[in-house]
Amino acid sequence: MTTDWKTLYQSGEAGWDKGAPAPGLLAFLAEMPLMGRVLVPGCGRGHDVRAIAAAGADEVIGLDLAPSAFAGAETVPNMRFVLGDLFALSTEFQSAFDAVFEHTCFCAIPRERRDDYVQAVAGALKPGGLLLGVFYLNPRDDPDPTLGPPFNATLEELDTRFAEHFTLLRSETPARTFPGREGREVLRLLQKK
Ligand SMILES: C[S@@+](CC[C@H](N)C(=O)[O-])C[C@H]1O[C@@H](n2cnc3c(N)ncnc32)[C@H](O)[C@@H]1O
Repeated sequence: MTTDWKTLYQSGEAGWDKGAPAPGLLAFLAEMPLMGRVLVPGCGRGHDVRAIAAAGADEVIGLDLAPSAFAGAETVPNMRFVLGDLFALSTEFQSAFDAVFEHTCFCAIPRERRDDYVQAVAGALKPGGLLLGVFYLNPRDDPDPTLGPPFNATLEELDTRFAEHFTLLRSETPARTFPGREGREVLRLLQKK
């Protein structure tokens, strides 16, 4: 079944939205800002987009297929929102980014489309570009793969799906998370081959 993200936002059911950037992202940016052009797929209301822009990236693009996700959201000069589908990126967005930031988009994607997610992100990055992810691994206690969104993932799944196009540079449990997500996330830095 396809998720109607637009309606979830409009009906106030955006329970994933914490009104702030991912704490793990903020800790990472304090150590290593993402530079150049950065894409944030499934950006929602854009909290992570604004944080990456504030940390010094040249241009940050927040992409989401639900117009109600970022309608009226604050922007800053070096960021913009784009309405679009990660699985149908325009040629303008091919090999166009120095970095991609992932946060609660991968877990929104059903398993049968996750290889397409990896292809799309790899396609958006320049050679050698970075994928930083705060992957929400087990948003639900029941690991049944059919339940969701959000859908669970495992470290083994990430290893397998990303190995063809990416080299894993870092993998760690983020020191800071939103309350309730402790031990449920992994921060990964990957480089496009
Ligand atoms: C669980 S929400 C997370 C939003 C945001 N990252 C956050 O943490 O608040 C998943 C988001 O991904 C968007 N999304 C799902 N599939 C998408 C696709 N194929 N292309 C672009 N955005 C997508 C949804 O509209 C939704 O805003």
